[in-house]
Formats: sequence, structure tokens, C-alpha cells
Amino acid sequence: MKVTVVGAGAVGASCAEYIAIKNFASEVVILDIKEGFAEGKAMDLMQCASLNGFDTKITGVTNDYSQTANSDICVITSGIPRKPGMTREELIGINAGIVKNVSTSLLEHSPNMILIVVSNPMDTMTYLAHKATGMPKNRIIGMGGALDSARFKYRLAEALGAPISDVDGMVVGGHSDVGMVPLTSHATRNSIKVSEFLSEERLEQVAADTKVGGATLTKLLGTSAWYAPGAAVSGMVQAIACDTKKIFPCSTFLEGEYGLNDICIGVPVVLGKNGIEKIVDIPLSDAEKAHMQASAEGVTKTNGLLDL
Ligand code: LAC
Repeated sequence: MKVTVVGAGAVGASCAEYIAIKNFASEVVILDIKEGFAEGKAMDLMQCASLNGFDTKITGVTNDYSQTANSDICVITSGIPRKPGMTREELIGINAGIVKNVSTSLLEHSPNMILIVVSNPMDTMTYLAHKATGMPKNRIIGMGGALDSARFKYRLAEALGAPISDVDGMVVGGHSDVGMVPLTSHATRNSIKVSEFLSEERLEQVAADTKVGGATLTKLLGTSAWYAPGAAVSGMVQAIACDTKKIFPCSTFLEGEYGLNDICIGVPVVLGKNGIEKIVDIPLSDAEKAHMQASAEGVTKTNGLLDL
């Protein structure tokens, strides 16, 4: 199993690190445009191998796509991250050109790859990768919901005073401060609906804190987060590599599911060796449906800024 991670920045490096630590991939290639940067990150990570007990071989390359040849899974993290006060949508100008070039270059060398898009504005970048490469829709996956759901579970556990392992919940919709749809009506603590423990107001606060999860960290760190984004990607890569059929909310191209068409947006999917193996259509409450619709309108508006 060969995995390529494009972008040796904080998210790309943390993603490569988690993949290696989980020890399921034989090879991870990190590619960056900055001379020597990916090589340096790869060497530093390889020097963790004996300490952390993994056998994954990590190599770094400067913009040499031939080294990524025949990757099974490729991850695009490249592009500029947000600065405090910025929305993910404001990154489109620079990141669209990068994602278009990177996705087509990867495809040239890895015609059978499954592509995971992380660069922001993620739903629009996933849609762009779809249009630019013409790859089948099951092989292009946007990472947002896995991260947003992890942040939702963190906030739910905090509100409940419960361990995170007791909590389950999912965030669908667009990966943006306004577009996320935390499914509070479906969230549970050890199979009991969280509404049994938390008031409507407290649940609304949990949802609001979840939606600005990325912005809160950007304000604290001065740039966007990397540990949880890297862990979220590595979880998706593992589900595909090990064919686990685990459900994650992912951005995927919709053709009628959830009443939406010609858009990539977060919905629950089954991940396995073929990438997106199934889109899971679950019933939403009226409020969640309206929220999902508004979220889709926001993503479509951002898609309209693309030069396709
Ligand atoms: C975040 C970025 C990865 O939410 O979109 O932290």
C-alpha cells in the first residue's frame, strides 16, 4: 500500500506521521514544492520509526511526481492555510490553481489512485478535483466531516462530563463555519440520545462551538490546526487501505442524494477499498434538512467562483 501526501506543511506532516504510527502502509511519499522541505520532514519522521515502532518507509521529494507513481491513495493538503479572522472560502483564489495542478499531476502517475482532498475551501476543492480529473466519483473524497465530527464529539463529551469514548455523533454539510450541520438529534452517549442529558440550549451551544472549531484554533494558534486534521485523514486512509467499511461523513459528489445535485458536500459514506462504497441516506429532522439546504447553497455559491 503506497500513500502520497502532497504538502509537507503541518497538516501533511501530521497526516504522514499518523499513517506511519498506525503501521498499515508500506510506503508514504511526501511531496512539496519547497526545495528540501519534504525530504527534511520525511527524514525527521523516519528517525521516529525505531522509537515509535513502525516499519512504514517515508520518503520526501521536491515536486517530483514520478516518485509518487502507482500510489493507491493520494492526499492533497497543499495550499495556503487560514489566518485568524479569515474564512475558508477566502482561500479559493490561490488554492484552486494549486489543487487543479496537483490533482492532474497525481493522476498522470497514479491512474488508479483514490484521492482525498483536504485543501480549503474543501468542498469546492473536491468539486474542482472532480471536474479537473474526470475521475469516477467513488475515488474522489473530501475530508471535512471526519474532523468536524471529532470536534463535535469533543464538545459533546465536555458538555456531558463524559469520556469521549462514550460519545457518538456526526457533522454533515459543508466544511465551513456556517455550513456545518451537527446532527444533535442523532448524537448519543452509549446509545442514549444526548438530549436525555443536555438541555436544548446546551446542545445549541455545543453545535455552535463545533461549527467554529477550526476558527477557534486558528485564533489561538495564528494558523489553522493540524493534529486533528492529520488524524482525521489518517483514519480515512486506514479505512480505505484496510477495507474496513467504516462510516465517515465525507464530501462526495451527489446525484440526487439528500435532494442535492452537482455538488460535493459532506454526507455519511461507507469507506472501503473502492473509496466511497456507498452513500448512506439518513432521515434528517426538518431543521437539519433546512440547514443542509442552506449549506448546499453556500457551497454552490463558492463553486460559482471557480474557473472551470
Ligand atoms: C480545519 C481546517 C483543516 O478545520 O479546515 O482545521
